[in-house]
Amino acid sequence: MRVFAFAAALRRDSFNRKLIRLAAQAAERAGASVDHADFHEFDMPLYDGDVEAASGIPAGAQKLRERFLGADAFMISTPEYNYSIPGVLKNAIDWVSRATPAAWRGKPGLLLSASPSLVGANRGAWATRVPLEGTGAMLYPDMFAVATAHDAFDQTGALKDAKMAARLDKVVAGFVTFASALVKRA
Ligand SMILES: Cc1cc2nc3c(=O)[nH]c(=O)nc-3n(C[C@H](O)[C@H](O)[C@H](O)COP(=O)(O)O)c2cc1C
Repeated sequence: MRVFAFAAALRRDSFNRKLIRLAAQAAERAGASVDHADFHEFDMPLYDGDVEAASGIPAGAQKLRERFLGADAFMISTPEYNYSIPGVLKNAIDWVSRATPAAWRGKPGLLLSASPSLVGANRGAWATRVPLEGTGAMLYPDMFAVATAHDAFDQTGALKDAKMAARLDKVVAGFVTFASALVKRA
């Protein structure tokens, strides 16, 4: 089971980057191999139909597409911007979806999110389900959210709350089982 994982965040000290690192480790403990990417690797311009007509899908989006294609499943940790999906992630989904079928079509995916707010970034994760499911991703019903993220990680990047860390392990292990079952059936 190969899982492609990235945080849809560019900030160096991003909470979502911390969270996806922990999720990647949890997936490995559950028996998966993980391709953990840095979203900076997929730098791309804003979607523009004229650019697409003139020169096709840009290199960053091609690279992102290839990483999805090379995996059986994927995990994305996303921030919430203005109650919704961050623009950089939506833009990336839009570009990659121009090569049909979408690279994630039929692939199991797990969404995670982290935010300093008291209610977390769940709305951002819910908004992210729409374009991914609309283009065929088989998203795991459970999601994992870290609220008050500025206080959730210790100096090493681990979750301070042991119960929350155990819950992350459980959600990710459940996802790996779900993904393995789907991949076997395909
Ligand atoms: C443009 C913008 C909009 C934001 N809107 C929200 C929001 O709606 N809900 C929320 O919980 N946090 C919001 N935030 C705060 C982010 O959760 C916070 O910046 C977080 O650290 C971003 O994720 P990262 O740590 O992975 O970079 C917003 C931040 C920015 C820059």
